[in-house]
Amino acid sequence: MDKFIIPGGVRLKGEVSISGAKNAALPILAGCLLTEEPCSLRAVPDLADIRAMLEIMGELGVDTSRDDDGVLKIHVTDESHSHARYDLVRKMRASICVLGPLLAKRGYARVSMPGGCAIGARPVDLHLRGLRALGAKIELDGGDIIATRDRLQGTEIFLGGPFGSTVLGTANVMSAATLAEGTTMIESAACEPEIEDLADLLNAMGAKIRGAGTPRVTIEGVEQLSGAEHTVIPDRIEAGTFILAAAVTNGDVTLHNCRLDHLHAVVDKLRDVGVAVEKHNGTAVVASARRLCPTDVTTQPYPGFPTDLQAQLMTLLCLADGNSAITEKIFPDRFMHVAELLRMGANIRKEGPTAIVTGVRELIGAPVMASDLRASAALVVAGLVARGETEVRRVYHIDRGYEHIEKKLNQLGANIQRVAE
Ligand code: UD1
Repeated sequence: MDKFIIPGGVRLKGEVSISGAKNAALPILAGCLLTEEPCSLRAVPDLADIRAMLEIMGELGVDTSRDDDGVLKIHVTDESHSHARYDLVRKMRASICVLGPLLAKRGYARVSMPGGCAIGARPVDLHLRGLRALGAKIELDGGDIIATRDRLQGTEIFLGGPFGSTVLGTANVMSAATLAEGTTMIESAACEPEIEDLADLLNAMGAKIRGAGTPRVTIEGVEQLSGAEHTVIPDRIEAGTFILAAAVTNGDVTLHNCRLDHLHAVVDKLRDVGVAVEKHNGTAVVASARRLCPTDVTTQPYPGFPTDLQAQLMTLLCLADGNSAITEKIFPDRFMHVAELLRMGANIRKEGPTAIVTGVRELIGAPVMASDLRASAALVVAGLVARGETEVRRVYHIDRGYEHIEKKLNQLGANIQRVAE
């Protein structure tokens, strides 16, 4: 297991390029199971979660290889194994997104039920409700979801849940409906850009999807899908993390390959705090005021403020001049980073799904423990601005979702060392 040693007190300065989006690439890889023809994917990031997904795809009879230009070739060569085993699924919850494509293409899927994780219970009831509505028979056996069908039938499906819609649930149902008989209408679909990106790939494969990226998605079923080429969208959460890291260190950073149109809520909130993020010649330029203002923020489904940037924003607000309130409406227990930030001298009080953050003059370096992917990013950002040295342990969490984060930050003037624990 590796840890990061982070000397604090740096000011990030320079240019950084944002990688392809992990959360778009995962359901897109699963979407390639819907055809026996080869697919070529550009900008799939090289991350632990992607490698885990490729391992699962390998067991599902898929040949995968990267060429010298980084293009990932995906080719289904054997459809006889449709079991995504617990050993692999437990490494990465998002592997649930193979369920819809396997069911639709092969008529049978056995996928281990993902467990909870550090950010709380992670049910999949909406995924199953959606697939049942399409006519799938679903049973549970030995911790596995077993889904079977004759042919899926298009229908109207409401996918809203107690915390809004579901991103991977929408991906699963939308993917499965591409091969259903007749037309499917998903109401209360997730509007995240990653869903639109998946629909772009599926449409390039011959699917007939309209409205992806809005709450109503219509899918006219087709007999079969073909191979396609696709470039994955830039990672808005990685971009948001670099924007927040630049802001907290009072830096001056230009981001390439950054879709600010996917970050409206973040840019708008940061303006309240005193951080300007401007578009300039196809790049995003971050500049922040010396004094940061407090603000209130609630995480929401897209286009609201993303839960995946809540922890990193909290680090920033720890240094604002006054009290901020952060309310988590997607994963109400997603506050594992609070206790670690307290170890660094932050002043945060938790009340149910809300954290009241009172700004302090400085954070102080300390050994801290990463608990999940985005919480670890928040601790790295805190380490950059803290007085003294911070040690972030268990950085395998961060390796799941950030491509070469220490290299990218070091390129901007940080001096992070990766050390084996
Ligand atoms: C995706 C993202 C994750 C992000 C999350 C919310 C990927 C790989 N992961 O996760 O980074 O934090 O969206 O933006 O894309 N829910 C149910 N029943 C279900 C499914 C979800 O009640 O069947 C609830 C969840 O507990 C949560 C909310 O709905 O409260 C949203 O979850 P969901 O959008 O499904 O998250 P994921 O797609 O797993």
